Amino acid sequence: MSFPSFSGGQCYVESVALSEIARDFGTPCYVYSRAAIDAAFDEFADVLRGIDALVCYAIKANPGLAILDLFARKGAGFDIVSGGELERALAVGADPEKIVFSGVGKTADEMRFALNSGICCFNVESEPELDRLAGVAVGLDKKAPVSLRVNPDVDAGTHPYISTGLKENKFGVAFQDAQRLYRKAATLPGIEIRGIDCHIGSQILDPAPFFEALDKVLLLVDQLAADGIALRHIDLGGGFGIRYTVETEPPVASYLRPILERLRGRGLKLLLEPGRRLVGNAGLLLTRVEYLKTGGAKNFAVVDAAMNDLMRPALYGALHDIVLAAPDASNAARELREWEIVGPVCESGDFLGKSRTLSLAPGDLLAVLSAGAYGMSMSSNYNSRPRAAEVVVDGARAHLVRRRESIKTLYENESPLP
Ligand code: LLP
Repeated sequence: MSFPSFSGGQCYVESVALSEIARDFGTPCYVYSRAAIDAAFDEFADVLRGIDALVCYAIKANPGLAILDLFARKGAGFDIVSGGELERALAVGADPEKIVFSGVGKTADEMRFALNSGICCFNVESEPELDRLAGVAVGLDKKAPVSLRVNPDVDAGTHPYISTGLKENKFGVAFQDAQRLYRKAATLPGIEIRGIDCHIGSQILDPAPFFEALDKVLLLVDQLAADGIALRHIDLGGGFGIRYTVETEPPVASYLRPILERLRGRGLKLLLEPGRRLVGNAGLLLTRVEYLKTGGAKNFAVVDAAMNDLMRPALYGALHDIVLAAPDASNAARELREWEIVGPVCESGDFLGKSRTLSLAPGDLLAVLSAGAYGMSMSSNYNSRPRAAEVVVDGARAHLVRRRESIKTLYENESPLP
């Protein structure tokens, strides 16, 4: 399915023109396609049909209730990293038995909340976390279901900020400590060992590091079995890459088939935690050109979205395609130039794209593509900018699923000194 599509000089998400969305809901605005989200999930579901597996959507990629609700309806589980994400999942009626809890800094309160909710598994990332969890569980007279997140020291070949499976990263327990920690976990009264977990990084476009990590983890699984520690599941995390500009996106099957091959006959349920792959290319950021500044060393198109709305370019130097979504009809004189697409925030790092050749006029609508993952979820109120509206398109209908923030809500928790 092509997303977005073009017809008669207009850009569409499903059958709704982006110019209509801008007219009805304003800009900047995140726009998602329900069909694209469904298709992304189905690519996993199709390969996993008939297999004991669970796709746990990584909520951090996009925690909008409408998005979570779509995945819950499709039978997905969820990967959470905070009490806030747990509350969001429960708010859409997610089955707690399908929720896994990752993250290096779980607080005792978050552990209590998750235990009382009856989640499927805590992905424990350190020995002190294991000790704390055991204590919290005993205090509640419960047993905490646990996987240890092991760090297989595999290079996922991705951006250093989003690579997590190397031994110098803060994530997971070191591979050589894992067996000792499992033995210890088996003796702790508040702990019930369920599985094993690893997540090696994000935006991984070469499937090979997944297989390397799995082979290492399976060696450990065998050592644990020899110790009498039997596991029910193996969680291979997320990280499946997407096409942003020129990348070739491997089909989901090319990651999963070799994984399933390696797991055959082992009786281990497969858990996955994809985030980006399920929503990244199902969303775009719609923005309007406010000013064109020419005559200096560079040409700037100043748009009404900024780094606070989409911080990936500023933070990672990430590339997102930017297309003309609808020319402003009242402005016939367009200028074909190489533009720096920048926002109104007072930082030189506030750009959405550099050196983009486009024919522009003030008032034009631009779409920043592949913005469905880690776009809205990483947005902020920097420069006291209200966060954007969010719209989900379903066929011919556009649903406002998050109102644009009002300035008042930005400071409603604040007060001057008495
Ligand atoms: N599971 C765990 C334990 C994770 O830490 C992550 C992402 C995921 C699953 C989902 O990974 P995905 O399938 O989306 O690659 N803000 C960065 C990405 C940070 C990813 C953090 N962890 C970006 O915009 O590229």
